[in-house]
Amino acid sequence: MSKHLTNITLKVWRQAGPADAGHFETYTVPEISDEASFLEMLDILNERLISDGKEAVVFDHDCREGICGTCSLMIDGQAHGPQRGTATCQLHMRKFQSGDTITIEPWRASAFPIIKDLMVDRSAFDRIVEAGGFITAETGGAPDANLIPIPKPVADAAMDAAECIGCGACVAACPNGAANLFTGAKVAHLNLLPQGQAERFGRVEAMVETMDSYFGSCTNHGECEAACPKSISIDVIAVMNQDYRKSKFKNRKALARS
Ligand code: FES
Repeated sequence: MSKHLTNITLKVWRQAGPADAGHFETYTVPEISDEASFLEMLDILNERLISDGKEAVVFDHDCREGICGTCSLMIDGQAHGPQRGTATCQLHMRKFQSGDTITIEPWRASAFPIIKDLMVDRSAFDRIVEAGGFITAETGGAPDANLIPIPKPVADAAMDAAECIGCGACVAACPNGAANLFTGAKVAHLNLLPQGQAERFGRVEAMVETMDSYFGSCTNHGECEAACPKSISIDVIAVMNQDYRKSKFKNRKALARS
């Protein structure tokens, strides 16, 4: 049965634009159903701000189903909030208590400059994907799903990596602002499959070097795995590092099947 939370205090980061210093503003939410999602709670806050003639809080969202990777938010210092394996849009107010004070900030990473309030520019991720996140495949009718035999554990590992929604929580949670979990997931999901072999070593080389030009270095804190709303394992970073090392061998052809 649903119940209502009362007297929630929100400390929300407000920043007029990239050049503004930004500051926290405090709002109160007198009453909210524990069945409301976190973003619905912000919607209600925004309706109130707009009806009071004030500017709404800007935040990213789209699908609200944990699929698109658009939502973000550091909630009480945790990327996507207190519920493990959950994107902000899937977080509900039942995770909080009446009287709580909730601090809401944007992703904090130099590679993700703040556009306004809680919205950041994550286009550095697009540069990494552009560098190698594709395969050379025949176009035409969809082939039978079982035309290329792939061992089940390999297919499972590739599909687990492909769950990455590109939200950037891994970067926001990393003390170094590294994007190794994101890049590792994108590399692994293609490099593990037969269809990804043609570009395998060129892909990892281009994606890692693009990543390095925007983001910090991984020093194995593992915060990324804990923050990932899709619970992607840091194993993908090992896959990426192994293939990156091999990409520096002279005879890549000989490695293609390794
Ligand atoms: S809004 Fe699409 S994943 Fe959260």
